[in-house]
Amino acid sequence: MPRALHHRLFGAALCVFVPLAASAQPSGCTSIASVPITWNIDYANDIQTIFSTRCANCHVDHAGNPQAGLDLDPKWSYENLVGTPSGSGEILVVPGNPQASVLFQKINCDTPVAGLRMPRLRPALPLAEQALIYDWIMLGAPRISDTMFASGFEPRP
Ligand code: HEC
Repeated sequence: MPRALHHRLFGAALCVFVPLAASAQPSGCTSIASVPITWNIDYANDIQTIFSTRCANCHVDHAGNPQAGLDLDPKWSYENLVGTPSGSGEILVVPGNPQASVLFQKINCDTPVAGLRMPRLRPALPLAEQALIYDWIMLGAPRISDTMFASGFEPRP
């Protein structure tokens, strides 16, 4: 079983049924299993568009003071997310590992490792947008992805 699928199936079950003592786990996460995987993702067109549409009014540089210090302006968002620590110390985007990425937890789970689900106090992102962010991270959080992984590697059920 691919590691990702394994994590998806068992991670969800663990969240609900097993009180984990070791490290904080997100809970109330939405299943994206019904959404087909997207292989070709252009960060600027596909991912940034979500941020600019749904997150920008809080996470832009209002005179040097975006919410949670996270500036998702198109000029800085990639560097501010990929490999960058969150306010609580976990990494916002861990390339290849959506579950470990605070960004994905924050848009996929009612109770992320820290703070509230995003967009804050608004309806959750459409499932397709949650899945797109998952796929982008799973594909290694590239600026532009291509179909080279499509043969023999299946990160989604
Ligand atoms: C209404 C304002 C608002 C909107 C809209 C919003 N956020 Fe936030 N965001 C916040 C606040 C306030 C915090 C800090 C408190 C918390 O985590 O709940 C935060 C925290 C975060 C963090 C954690 C940052 C860190 O370093 O700990 C991430 C990641 C994040 N938001 C992503 C998003 C994304 C992605 C969207 C759009 C889908 C979004 N937010 C929409 C206000 C907002």
